[in-house]
Amino acid sequence: VLKNFTLFIEKDYNEMSQRAANIFASAVSKNPSGAYGFATGSTPIGMYEELVKMQNKSFDLTKITAFNLDEYYPINQHDPQSYFFFMKKYLFDPVGLPISSTNIPSGAANDPVAECVNYDKKIEAAGGLCMQILGIGANGHIGFNEPASELFASTHCVPLSESTITANARNFASQEDVPRSAITMGMHSIMMAKQILLLASGDGKAEIMKKAIYGPITTEVPASLLQLHHNVTVVTDAAAGKLL
Ligand code: GLP
Repeated sequence: VLKNFTLFIEKDYNEMSQRAANIFASAVSKNPSGAYGFATGSTPIGMYEELVKMQNKSFDLTKITAFNLDEYYPINQHDPQSYFFFMKKYLFDPVGLPISSTNIPSGAANDPVAECVNYDKKIEAAGGLCMQILGIGANGHIGFNEPASELFASTHCVPLSESTITANARNFASQEDVPRSAITMGMHSIMMAKQILLLASGDGKAEIMKKAIYGPITTEVPASLLQLHHNVTVVTDAAAGKLL
């Protein structure tokens, strides 16, 4: 594995989640008022649950500033499928992080382009991200940077790929209900984080993790660009890590 990568392959989802929570908690202990980047999806839920258990005991998650990777567009904050709703439910409310300290691109912005420009300015104003948590799509997307012949540096609006719409339909009443677009941090916004914490769990992620870490760097596998980052920690369960 590349020198800039630290790889943890844990036995199962629980141990993956505990390892990731410990890595995150030790970063927050060093910089309790820093800005941290969060991800949604089913993968980090266990890690967030661990952090909720650890809160108050060993560290304090109420002084950080949170930035999320992405949000569907269009979607209302109060929609249970919105990433805002997800973060409030799994992390922000249980740890007592005030919503005023959290940032998620607005899925209801009238001017999504202005929303994107503003989002990158907010990350910069917060001094950049100490750590960015990432999941990975089975097609190699990170955030909603979908495989394509071109990727974008800044936060931007993006049409969702058919495979992502199908994959994410499980969280919606039907495939038709999945928003067709999203606002996502771009590759620059992600790569500027001082440390990347990439999580993957389950058989369905094994092939793409191998491509992301050992394959050629290509916009067709957006996660492969992480090979260019200087400090990436990868935590998987045994299933997602079986080809690493
Ligand atoms: C979603 C999110 C990504 C996430 C990925 C994997 O569409 N936009 O940020 O990492 O897909 O999701 P899961 O963890 O549910 O497999």
